[in-house]
Amino acid sequence: MSDVTVIGGAGHEGYGLALRWALAGKSITIGSRSPERAMEAAQKIKHTAAGFGKTVTVDGQENAAAAAAAPVVVVSVPLAAQIATIKAIREHLQPNCLLVDVTVPLATAIGGRASRMLGLPAGSAAEQLAEYAPAGVQVVSAFHFLSADLLAQAGPDGPIPIDCDVVACGGDAQAQEVIRDLAVAIEGVHYLHAGPLVASRLVEAAATMLIAMNVRHKVRHTGLRITGHHG
Ligand SMILES: NC(=O)c1ccc[n+]([C@@H]2O[C@H](COP(=O)([O-])OP(=O)(O)OC[C@H]3O[C@@H](n4cnc5c(N)ncnc54)[C@H](OP(=O)(O)O)[C@@H]3O)[C@@H](O)[C@H]2O)c1
Repeated sequence: MSDVTVIGGAGHEGYGLALRWALAGKSITIGSRSPERAMEAAQKIKHTAAGFGKTVTVDGQENAAAAAAAPVVVVSVPLAAQIATIKAIREHLQPNCLLVDVTVPLATAIGGRASRMLGLPAGSAAEQLAEYAPAGVQVVSAFHFLSADLLAQAGPDGPIPIDCDVVACGGDAQAQEVIRDLAVAIEGVHYLHAGPLVASRLVEAAATMLIAMNVRHKVRHTGLRITGHHG
């Protein structure tokens, strides 16, 4: 049993989140379609942590087994793979688990530009995931503004703090506390809740805006801070 499973944890965003949470003391299961890839990513996190003098608890498993391994399951795969991924794992999720979506529905899914967002029949990527989630499983969307590159960035003594907020949508009060805890486990990050899952339409659009600004201004790491709140 782990604290958090990251499906797609051998990929860019999932790996960065898994690394940060492992370093913060969470036990992590990496999920992949390939158990070898999952175990390789877990080993890499352990190796990185050892470089900072830390021992972390991370394992790697095929997606279905990984989905069963934690009460919080983050789905970190490209939009084009999201439905196939939830279909592959939904029967294996723990009853009443929390499903976390990080998907930014970029037009790249249909060969378009990364600076454009796709309209989806469900309204947003998170609502699309929720359509396929089993009854009793809450879906929350979060972490869209944190770039994979920044999550993986480290100095000699540990990961570099990230100057960005996490804006989450959906979930009851208890679910929101779980996401807050995961967000603030990443040094520098503040947490805000934007409202019900439908608000993910706005958050996913804002994440696309950041990517568009990266392209326009030839930078890699625009982020977002919401001011005038107390967390
Ligand atoms: N990259 C970022 O900076 C960033 C920031 C915020 C949010 N996001 C969101 O995070 C999600 C993951 O982004 P990423 O950059 O990490 O993507 P990625 O590295 O291209 O893919 C992540 C993982 O998804 C799985 N995957 C890829 N294609 C698949 C397919 N056709 N079918 C099934 N599984 C497939 C792969 O896992 P296995 O092969 O191991 O199964 C892969 O390692 C996306 O929805 C993205 O919008 C990304």
